Amino acid sequence: MAVKTNWYKEAVVYQIYPLSFMDSNNDGMGDIPGIISKLDYIRDLGATAIWFSPLYKSPWNDYGYDIADYREIHPAFGTMEDFDRLVEECHKRGLRVIMDAVFNHTSTEHEWFKAALADKDSPYRDYYIIREGKRNKEGELIPPTNWTSSFTGPAWERIEGTDEYYLHLFAPEQPDLNWENPKVREEMADILRFWLDKGVDGFRFDVFNMISKVYPLRDDKNPLHFQKGTPFYVDGPRMHEFLNELNRNALSLYDTYTVGESYIPDEEHAHRYIKEESGELDSIFDFEHLASDNIFGLKMIPKPFSLKQFKRGLIDPQLRYHGTGWNTLVLENHDQARSVSRFGINTKKYRYQAATFLAMITFLGWGTPFIYQGEEIGMTNTKFMSRDQLKDPVSHFVLGMAKDLHMPDRLAFKMMKGAFRDHARTPMQWDSSVNAGFNTGAQTWQCVNPDYRTINVEADLASGRSIYRFYQKLLALRKSEPALIYGNTIEYYPDDRQVISYSRSYEGKRFLIVGNFSGTRADFIMPGDFELDELHIRMTNQGRTDTEIEEIMQLKPYEALLLEETV
Ligand code: NOJ
Repeated sequence: MAVKTNWYKEAVVYQIYPLSFMDSNNDGMGDIPGIISKLDYIRDLGATAIWFSPLYKSPWNDYGYDIADYREIHPAFGTMEDFDRLVEECHKRGLRVIMDAVFNHTSTEHEWFKAALADKDSPYRDYYIIREGKRNKEGELIPPTNWTSSFTGPAWERIEGTDEYYLHLFAPEQPDLNWENPKVREEMADILRFWLDKGVDGFRFDVFNMISKVYPLRDDKNPLHFQKGTPFYVDGPRMHEFLNELNRNALSLYDTYTVGESYIPDEEHAHRYIKEESGELDSIFDFEHLASDNIFGLKMIPKPFSLKQFKRGLIDPQLRYHGTGWNTLVLENHDQARSVSRFGINTKKYRYQAATFLAMITFLGWGTPFIYQGEEIGMTNTKFMSRDQLKDPVSHFVLGMAKDLHMPDRLAFKMMKGAFRDHARTPMQWDSSVNAGFNTGAQTWQCVNPDYRTINVEADLASGRSIYRFYQKLLALRKSEPALIYGNTIEYYPDDRQVISYSRSYEGKRFLIVGNFSGTRADFIMPGDFELDELHIRMTNQGRTDTEIEEIMQLKPYEALLLEETV
C-alpha cells in the first residue's frame, strides 16, 4: 500500500515539562534558558521535535493546564524574547517546536472568565457554560446536572452570591469553554495562528475530545457510570466540525503536526479524527495500554498488570489505522508514573533491561515515538513518604475522595502511591551534585528523587550500560529503516502471557520484534513465516548473537530483539 511520507511520521518527539527540566536561575523552577542549555542533549538523543507542556501565564492550579493568557509566557519560565530564542535555537538544531493547546478550559484567572463573572451582560459570559442550579425535593439548590469532574467531585461550581454554576470538567479553577459560541472558536484559531506565526510547528491538544457537549445539558442516569456525564461530553456531536473549522482557519494554512490527547475515544470517532481525508488531526494519544495496570479513568486505583491489555492497547491501533491515518507511541508523560516502576517490573533488579526492552517493543511500532524527559535514562518513581511531598492537586483530590469513602489515610496512600502524577514531575536528574544538577540552589519546587545519586544523565553516559546510548542507537536505526517507520504491523501470539511480538514490513523489507515482558524466562517459537537462516540480529538489549537465533528461543527476563530478514 502506498504510504504518504511526512516529516512528522519520521519525527521523534521529546516531551519537556518545563517546571522540572532545568533551572538556570536557581529559583527552584525550570525555565526557558535552562531548556536552551540542554537542546544539544535532546538533539543528540535522536529527537527531532520537542513538545513543551504549557509555558503560558497561569496561576498553576494545575501547573499550566489552567491558562490565564494564551499569548503570554509565564514569567517564571522567562520572557517572550526567551521563547523566540528557544524557537530559533530549536530550529537551528533541526528540532521542531510543538506547543500545548489547552482549549477545553481556561483558568479562572483568565480575563474572559473574570469579565464573565463581573457582569451578567458581558459578551464573555457566553464564553463559558453557566447555568441556573436546580432545586431538589427538599428545595435545596443543586448543580444543573449530576456530572462529575475528572478530578473527582461535582463538575459544577456555584458562582458566589448567585444561584448559578459554571461547568468545570477538571478542577474548579478550570472552567470549561463554550465551543458552541463561534467567538470562542475564532479566538482559538487566532491563538493557533499567533504561535504559528512565531514559527511553531505543531500542537498537542489537551483532552481535545471533550470540547463538544450534548445540549440541552442533562443528568447521566446510568448507574454504572462512575464518572457521571461522559456520554454527554466525550466525542460530542460537533467534534468533527470544530476540528475541521480549526484546520480551515489556522492549521491547514501552515505545515503543522497535531496530536490530540483523547479521553477514552470511541473507536469510530478515533479513526475519523486521524483519517488523512478528514482534515481534523494528524494523530491522537490513546492510552489504553497504559491502563493495563490500573482501573481506567482512575489511574490511582491499581490492578495486576495485564500484558494482554497492554498488547491490545499498543498494537490494535497499528492494525486498525495503518494506511489511513497516523499513530503515536508512548510510554510516559507528565501524567503517568515512570514506566520502569510499573507493569509489575522489579525495578531494582531489572531497571536497565526493562527500560531498553520497553523502548524496543514500543518505539519500533508504527507511529511517532514520544519520549518523556528522564525516560531515556530510566528515571524511576520516587518513594513519596507523605502527602506534603505531593504537589499535584489531583493527588490531593483523590486522597480526599478516599477519605470521604472512609478509607484509612495510610491505606489510601499505600494503594495509590505507585501512580501519582508527581512521579513524572520530580526534577530531571542531570548529575550527582546537589539537586541532581537541576539547579545549584537550595530549593526545588518539587522534591528531587533521592536515587539521583546513582540515576542521572552523567552516570548513565559513563556507564557501560547506558540507557541513553541505547535509545540513541534505537532511534538512529528507526530513522535509517523506512520499514520501521512506514511498514505495516502483523502481531504474533496475541494471547501469549509473557511474550510480545510483531513484524514490520515495507517495500520488500521485513523485521521481527520480539520481547519477553516478564521477570522469568520465556519460550518464543519462531513464527512459521520466518526462516531461521534468513534472520539476523539488528538490535538486542542483552547481547544475543546470530548463532543464538533458534526455532524455540528461551528469552531472558525483559530480553528484546530486533531481527531483520535478509533474503
Ligand atoms: C490532561 C493533561 O495532560 C493533564 O495534566 C491536565 O491535568 C488535564 N488534561 C486537564 O487539563
